[in-house]
Amino acid sequence: MESRIMVFDHPLIQHKISLLRMKETTSKDFRHLVKEVGLLMGYEVTRSLPLKDVEIETPICPATVKMLKGEDIAIIPILRAGLGFVDGMLDLYPNAKVGHVGMYRDPDTHEAIEYYCKLPEDIDKRRIVVVDPMLATGGSAISAIDLIKSKGGKDICCMFLIAAPEGIKALSEAHPDVDIFIAAEDECLNENAYIVPGLGDAGDRLFGTK
Ligand code: PRP
Ligand code: URA
Repeated sequence: MESRIMVFDHPLIQHKISLLRMKETTSKDFRHLVKEVGLLMGYEVTRSLPLKDVEIETPICPATVKMLKGEDIAIIPILRAGLGFVDGMLDLYPNAKVGHVGMYRDPDTHEAIEYYCKLPEDIDKRRIVVVDPMLATGGSAISAIDLIKSKGGKDICCMFLIAAPEGIKALSEAHPDVDIFIAAEDECLNENAYIVPGLGDAGDRLFGTK
């Protein structure tokens, strides 16, 4: 099995990603843009949700129409920066449950260190969308998905704004059953394991901490 890698190159998404990259974009605008791109991507990510036939009456006649099977979704942001996607995703799926996985990168080794995990109890039955703006070395996403699988999660995909080739390779090798949705694949990582050209530190830009 191999991960499917899907790059959403819709012009609206590309335009908003370019605004996110600009260093003068304020935290307020950054948050708004992440939410908007999350909405646009979330719409595509759930394209394969199953539908069922439902009998209804329109003002004109009875009709058989399609509605969502009621399949349950869990949105799992990787803290902190993944939180930027949650509001947009909840606008699309108000009944989704939200789990949280806290990961930070050690500044020297760049290894992901877990500091928090709280998932919906029925995680094993849900379609799981892991969200984080950045896939750099892949360490945070790989560890987060290891953790989610260890708690019973099975049906998992993940969504990032910007990914480095190194992260895509590492994640798809570690979790070949997990589909990867991205808005842009960038050139490489720099010596500090930041994505080039990237957008900088997503958490700091989202929350204004630097
Ligand atoms: C960022 C980002 C990812 C991670 C990606 O989080 O949001 O979680 O780095 O890097 P990786 O692919 O090399 O693991 P960070 O560790 O900066 O934490 P923060 O969201 O709290 O700022
Ligand atoms: N984390 C970020 O926030 N940005 C990067 O470029 C790499 C990791």
